[in-house]
Amino acid sequence: MKLAVIEGDGVGKEVIPAAVEVLDALGLEIEKVPLELGYDKWERTGAAITDEDIDILKECDCVLFGAVTTPPDPNYKSVLLTIRKELDVYANIRPIKPLAGIKGATGRNDFDFVIVRENTEGMYSGIEELHDDVSYTTRVITRKGSKRIAEYACKLAKQRQNRVTIVHKSNVLKSDKLFLDTCRNVADDANVPYNDMLVDSMAYSLITSPQKYDVIVTTNLFGDILSDMSAALVGSLGLAPSANIGEKYAFFEPVHGSAPDIAGKGIANPVAAILCVKMMMEWLGDIKSASLVEDAVNHVLQRGIMTPELGGTSATKDVGHAVAEYIKTQG
Ligand code: NAI
Ligand code: MG
Repeated sequence: MKLAVIEGDGVGKEVIPAAVEVLDALGLEIEKVPLELGYDKWERTGAAITDEDIDILKECDCVLFGAVTTPPDPNYKSVLLTIRKELDVYANIRPIKPLAGIKGATGRNDFDFVIVRENTEGMYSGIEELHDDVSYTTRVITRKGSKRIAEYACKLAKQRQNRVTIVHKSNVLKSDKLFLDTCRNVADDANVPYNDMLVDSMAYSLITSPQKYDVIVTTNLFGDILSDMSAALVGSLGLAPSANIGEKYAFFEPVHGSAPDIAGKGIANPVAAILCVKMMMEWLGDIKSASLVEDAVNHVLQRGIMTPELGGTSATKDVGHAVAEYIKTQG
């Protein structure tokens, strides 16, 4: 297995080494291919990602990615959007599940749901026009894109509680009527029970009744926003992992960004990045390693080894090291 490892910028340079220490502790045959992308590279070379980088990524089986900082340049093409499109990783999977010893923003831990976010179109189509007094962003919703994300959500629901919630704003956005109708048809065909919610009332409901949900399927921007919000239910943006999955490739990254406010201090929470390793193991079909990583994270957090934003005093490195050491004792 060939894995591209991209630290990126800011706290990406801190959380990815911690996740790699955990990956190494699993003792698997994995060839790691380091790759530099992002703001720092853009400042140095004028390009945040090159065609050659894309070729290298395509030669790997999957990618472990930290975060990148967005440069202040209106013509800048997003690294992440480029990769997601090039690798056609259309399903962005964001599990929201409580962790041991941590109380999230609402104090409850009776929820366990997954946000399945369409990852290649919607508001992030990249079709934009900037003028002095008016700007346009084209929101693209296709039947093909909606169908494949709905099929992914239904497949996942069947492995879980067999319930899908379709999140949209079709009362205002005509483009979402196509998304909603397509998702309904797919769920009917797959025999998966479903309901649908408008995104604004869904945001409210995820705070007041998160236990009601199993698999949530939605468009690109809505999924982006709801997943950061849902990370607060778990307890920190530093705890939420994600997987970008396509037919051929997979790309694992924490939900958070480069966190410039804490970068360089060694205090970023590496748990989201470490749980990306768990998701990678699931994708590879190595369920034993996936469970081991999750158990190790829960064991370490339960013992109070956690970063300052959770009220702990441990450094990024200490958390990563403690998780890796626990895994070695179980091996
Ligand atoms: P952010 O996710 O980087 O940070 C938001 C807040 O969460 C900050 O207070 C930060 O300190 C905290 N936080 C984030 N990760 C954390 C961690 N591991 N441990 C503890 N606290 C953590 O979002 P922000 O500040 O809006 O964006 C910063 C930069 O990152 C921007 O340039 C943005 O474009 C980029 N970005 C990149 C993403 C990616 O590469 N996937 C995703 C989101 C933003
Ligand atoms: Mg985001």
